[in-house]
Amino acid sequence: MAMATATATSMFLPLLGCLFVFFHGFAGASHLFYEELNTVEPTSVSEQYRTAYHFQPPKNWMNDPNGPMYYNGLYHLFYQYNPYGAVWGNIVWAHSVSTDLVNWQPLEHAIYPTAPFDIKGCWSGSATILPNNKPIILYTGIDTQGRQVQNLAMPKNLSDPLLREWVKPAQHNPTMVPNGLNASSFRDPTTAWLGKDGHWRVLVGNKRHKRGMALLYRSSRDFVWWVKAKHPLHSSKDTGMWECPDFFPVLKKGQLGIDTSVNGPHVKHVLKVSLDDLKHEYYTVGTYFPNKDRYMPDNTSADDGTGLRYDYGKFYASKTFFDGLQNRRILWGWMNESDSVNDDVAKGWSGVQAIPRTLWLDKSGKQLVQWPVVEIESLRGKKVDIVDKVLASGSVVEVPNVTAAQVDVEVTFELPSLDQADRLDSASLTYPQLLCSKLGHSNTKQEGGGIGPFGLLVLASKDYEERTAVFFRIFKKAENQHVVLMCSDQSRSSLQEDVDKTTYGGLVDVDLAHGSKPTLSLRTLVDRSIVESFGEGGKTCITSRVYPVKAVGENAHLYAFNYASAPITISKLSAWAMSKAKIN
Ligand code: FRU
Repeated sequence: MAMATATATSMFLPLLGCLFVFFHGFAGASHLFYEELNTVEPTSVSEQYRTAYHFQPPKNWMNDPNGPMYYNGLYHLFYQYNPYGAVWGNIVWAHSVSTDLVNWQPLEHAIYPTAPFDIKGCWSGSATILPNNKPIILYTGIDTQGRQVQNLAMPKNLSDPLLREWVKPAQHNPTMVPNGLNASSFRDPTTAWLGKDGHWRVLVGNKRHKRGMALLYRSSRDFVWWVKAKHPLHSSKDTGMWECPDFFPVLKKGQLGIDTSVNGPHVKHVLKVSLDDLKHEYYTVGTYFPNKDRYMPDNTSADDGTGLRYDYGKFYASKTFFDGLQNRRILWGWMNESDSVNDDVAKGWSGVQAIPRTLWLDKSGKQLVQWPVVEIESLRGKKVDIVDKVLASGSVVEVPNVTAAQVDVEVTFELPSLDQADRLDSASLTYPQLLCSKLGHSNTKQEGGGIGPFGLLVLASKDYEERTAVFFRIFKKAENQHVVLMCSDQSRSSLQEDVDKTTYGGLVDVDLAHGSKPTLSLRTLVDRSIVESFGEGGKTCITSRVYPVKAVGENAHLYAFNYASAPITISKLSAWAMSKAKIN
């Protein structure tokens, strides 16, 4: 059966048991609309796959992170939420606050349908902090006619430290309407940035025919009257609807983040879009020309839906914000479920947020690097270390005495001579995900096997019958030119049939030929039904959702493995038991 966010290509979808399922043609978001299910309140909430330290509401459906910000001592996270059921629909902005990005306190819904300009739904949007230290939100409302329009919301009472109540001034809303535009592809305003000319700018996702685009709107200092610019900031043919665009500067050097309005010769810009057709996000690194208000990706960054991704697994509708407290840019992203809609209804919830990640420009200038916010380490408890351990060819070694269902693992592998890497033609490297699924993880030596597979088996049962393998393989592209493939193989993750077990993969851009003893590192956060992995210090990230039936709780195990034909050494592995965070 279709997964909760599979792309709807027709007006009518197949039968779900005895229930009819319709695509909500009036509004055109990408989520499947199960009319009969979206008001089925869960009678109970199944704890089985709920997570211990990833953000999720107590029950029901959650999708995109919205309007994340740091304001007067608190982190705010709003999110797309269905108050009445575990499938998409009836969308409001739910709201939680935190002092540490780890523990979260739920508050009342911040933005919900009340007015003609949002009566059919309050969809995604972003927060901007105005120069007088006043936060303001732009979000997409679905109006009485089912059109997508952009609206403003501001805190009712700035002296409330929690910013519980938000008002939507009727005299200003909607602030942007789809005149001359496709009214069902006009959504998800970004955080705004202020130009030197005193005008605010904001992007809105759109498509014209099949060309995806980021429309640019400008306003004077008031933030209230917005005018569409003649040209989009950027567009790309045949990429379809650009959902949840995000546009921000990164420093050319170092890991600190900067406010969204900063520009100059010391920064590059990043444009991320969530491609509705592919259900994946892509970003480019490039240059923003403020005088022309145009953005040009670098020639190392493809913008046609084949380029760089924040995450090569389940990660969508993401959004960054600048954290002025710690001077970093933080990324939030939504992971949907891999089980069926029936399962979601039965378990009473759907959707989690990835651990917020700090992000910065890699030294190469060609890509971003991501790392879980340091605060998450406050949940680390008992630690197990393995040092200088040789993994013979074909071996699997258990990491003992660790809470394998709830663990944070960091490992550095030392590799044998790269001469042994098998040759692989460039064509096979075009689709890393396919290569990962074709080669799998359980074979020792096979044609095109490369050095590897070696890595971790997480959420594994004692007999390995269930396991999720996160691993690397190294190939030779040309003499002295190596390619590192990182995979997350879910094909054996669960004995359950009716779950999506797609294998994910991405390339890791690292120059292994440097240094006499090449190494590769991996960090994996395991959280009951989440496997979130960071290859080589966060150069390549892959997140997956898995639903083991045997490898649960105390019966879950953690192993390191090496099916390469030569030995690989664990120079260091540390695994920390993770405690439960207080979330909502
Ligand atoms: C992305 C998205 C957005 C939209 C929201 C509706 O997942 O489709 O484009 O605003 O979800 O919930």
